Amino acid sequence: MKTICELLGIEYPILAFSHCRDVVAAVSKAGGFGVLGAVTYTPDELEIELKWIEDNVGERPYGIDVLIPAGLGGMDEVKDSDLAKVDVKSLLPEQHRRFVDELLEQYGVPPLSRERSNPFGLGGLSLPSTLVEVALAHPIKLVASALGPPPPRVVEAAHERGVPVAALVGTVEHALRQKEAGVDVIVAQGTEAGGHTGEIGTMVLVPEVVDAVAPVPVLAAGGIATGRQMAAAMALGAQGVWTGSVWLTTEEAETHPVVKEKFLSASSRDTVRSKSRTGKPARQLRSAWTEAWEGPDSPGALPMPLQPLLVEEALVRIGRSATAGNEGAKQLVNYFVGQVVGSLKTVKPARQVVLDMVSEYADVIFELAESMSE
Ligand SMILES: Cc1cc2nc3c(=O)[nH]c(=O)nc-3n(C[C@H](O)[C@H](O)[C@H](O)COP(=O)(O)O)c2cc1C
Repeated sequence: MKTICELLGIEYPILAFSHCRDVVAAVSKAGGFGVLGAVTYTPDELEIELKWIEDNVGERPYGIDVLIPAGLGGMDEVKDSDLAKVDVKSLLPEQHRRFVDELLEQYGVPPLSRERSNPFGLGGLSLPSTLVEVALAHPIKLVASALGPPPPRVVEAAHERGVPVAALVGTVEHALRQKEAGVDVIVAQGTEAGGHTGEIGTMVLVPEVVDAVAPVPVLAAGGIATGRQMAAAMALGAQGVWTGSVWLTTEEAETHPVVKEKFLSASSRDTVRSKSRTGKPARQLRSAWTEAWEGPDSPGALPMPLQPLLVEEALVRIGRSATAGNEGAKQLVNYFVGQVVGSLKTVKPARQVVLDMVSEYADVIFELAESMSE
């Protein structure tokens, strides 16, 4: 069976998940593998991003990632044109809308100057299969998905073009389901990770998944930002590492400037698994926003995909208002990030992060080998 480096045509088994095309391109050019998080793009926007990446990476490989929530399986049969007909607001309970309005009012966050033209812009309702279709017309080298086994036609379409499929899992049971669905690479993501995450730590999850799905290659994710952490992941049986948080404080990252500052001064205790952004538990920076959703007046999050639709405009308002220096908005603003945020203390180019990780990894495995021969 091919190693991850052979399968993807890369020098270093470091995969970087990012919504930012500059990070994706920089990591691929540095010898790793950039994966563009596609879920927030419309199909037309994704087309533009992929074209840009291709123009910038040359022959270097890259991939894309889409979220395909298991509960949305049926939605895959819906057409984009049908989505436009849904009266989204009618699905959102009055109590929840009032809670969001009052929270923003309490923190002095003003309304947007004009209506957003794309109501699904941040809610992630572009259909995953449409995004995969767009991506497969490009020379991508990996399609990754999270939140449940990808629909069979996504796996088939990728395989028809010789593109391997990866899937993120948080338990052995999920990993076995993914293997059954024909997935080529399993990403075992521990609870430390930023974004949607389960309850089992990387240290425990990775070897369990490696043993359960062998010989399918496993990448370790969650809490990996350095060569030492990479060496630990490889020692657990992973063939490589899948990283997310570490790119959010790189020079290229389009992270909100206030959030970037918060990340750089955060400790590893400053994250929380909260349903407040997406309706499913997702690790993010603790802020007045997450505290309010955990507080006594909270109506509780709606299930996915309603919660993103409920809060997307509020999150845009908070972000813009924080940029403008509004103190209330600065308290509320946050973003997905993992516990490793506590180690992210300097802003570096993404290329440097790759090279530092590789050189520390090489030093560590050399030292470990030395310790054995003494
Ligand atoms: C800002 C952010 C957004 C994320 N969004 C997604 C996503 O859309 N799809 C996905 O498969 N994983 C997503 N993840 C999880 C990453 O793919 C990755 O598994 C995780 O970041 C690894 O753990 P780490 O954050 O400790 O590096 C996201 C992570 C972060 C930090």
